[in-house]
Amino acid sequence: MVFDSEILNYKAYAYSDANHPVELVDDSIKLVKSASGEGYTVPANNILVKIHYAALNPVDIKLHHLAFGITSLFNPKKGIGKDYCGEVVAVGSEANTTVKVGDFISGLYFPVHAKGTVSQYLMLDTTKKDERVFTTVASNLSLAESASWPSVLGTAMCMLKGLEFKDKKVLVLGGATSVGRSVIQLLRSGGAKEIVATCSPRSEKIVKELGAASTIDYHSNLLNPVLESVKMTGEFNYVIDCCGGDDLFSNISTILQKGGTYNTIVGDRSGSSVYIMLISIFMGMSRVIASKLGFLSYTYNYLFLDPGFNFPEEAKKLLENGDVKVDIDHIYKFEEFNEGLKKLESGNYSGKIVIQITDH
Ligand SMILES: NC(=O)c1ccc[n+]([C@@H]2O[C@H](COP(=O)([O-])OP(=O)(O)OC[C@H]3O[C@@H](n4cnc5c(N)ncnc54)[C@H](OP(=O)(O)O)[C@@H]3O)[C@@H](O)[C@H]2O)c1
Repeated sequence: MVFDSEILNYKAYAYSDANHPVELVDDSIKLVKSASGEGYTVPANNILVKIHYAALNPVDIKLHHLAFGITSLFNPKKGIGKDYCGEVVAVGSEANTTVKVGDFISGLYFPVHAKGTVSQYLMLDTTKKDERVFTTVASNLSLAESASWPSVLGTAMCMLKGLEFKDKKVLVLGGATSVGRSVIQLLRSGGAKEIVATCSPRSEKIVKELGAASTIDYHSNLLNPVLESVKMTGEFNYVIDCCGGDDLFSNISTILQKGGTYNTIVGDRSGSSVYIMLISIFMGMSRVIASKLGFLSYTYNYLFLDPGFNFPEEAKKLLENGDVKVDIDHIYKFEEFNEGLKKLESGNYSGKIVIQITDH
């Protein structure tokens, strides 16, 4: 697509820092003269995406809370949202990608305190690995579903990478979280022997349908039912923690097989306040060090999805094969964004919160 003006103006949701709310703002992208000399297009290495849907994640709230006042000096319009699905409307002459104008892509935009995906347009620099995390949409998904999987399925794949789970017994903490749902489906399709998951009673049915043999209500005592499961069918080979918490560590050598693996993406505390995040990271990293030094009878990993983990193509195959499906709680219109954000902050939802940005 060739544009008439050097400046592409659009709307996006953004915040300046933790003390200011997320608001609808005007933003712009600077274009360059097109090769033909007529009109404007994107710089050589870039692609421009017209965003149709963006999905929200708990990390969006965490990043807002971590935007200390001084950061507003560097970028007073920090976009919100990481997941997106949209149409490629311009491709630079030297862009490092096979996608073409008119393709619809699903992606994860990694840069922190930069632009966001709850935005009418997003320009991606294909030379940057944290912006080049996308693939064309899976043929069996709606565009809203296509915006909903990159962060959660990518994280689930990262949590299970390198683990052999055929015939293994696995405890999934946070089985109804979006990451947990993907983890359970991957474990099921990989032939895990027994999956036990923690969730609320309201999520029991869906979590079992996805592949858990049994569920444990995390609102009551977690330890006793986990120990009961060990008595009944033996120790767990892996604990895959998608929600955070330290309930099991007092009895971990009974729960987790010697040489087993405990993978977390949250650490010892769940919550999005700065204080809780710092405690959680500190405790988690202490365990990582203890694990690396051989002080633990099991391997403990605190994992973060990073742009170098090249998952989109494999994830797309898993979706197209039907190995993993995507759950959406609700789709909000662009102008209803604040309702969607409130819902995310409430924690009272089941599946992804999606924002529809463009009518189509
Ligand atoms: N390190 C990383 O790279 C990375 C990447 C992605 C996500 N994360 C983190 O992983 C966590 C999950 O993210 P998500 O997007 O998958 O979550 P999500 O979809 O927002 O999870 C919401 C669900 O979590 C369940 N839940 C809440 N507290 C729980 C608890 N104490 N125990 C078990 N389940 C609980 C609730 O389900 P029910 O009450 O119905 O059971 C709720 O519906 C977040 O903290 C997120 O920040 C980290």
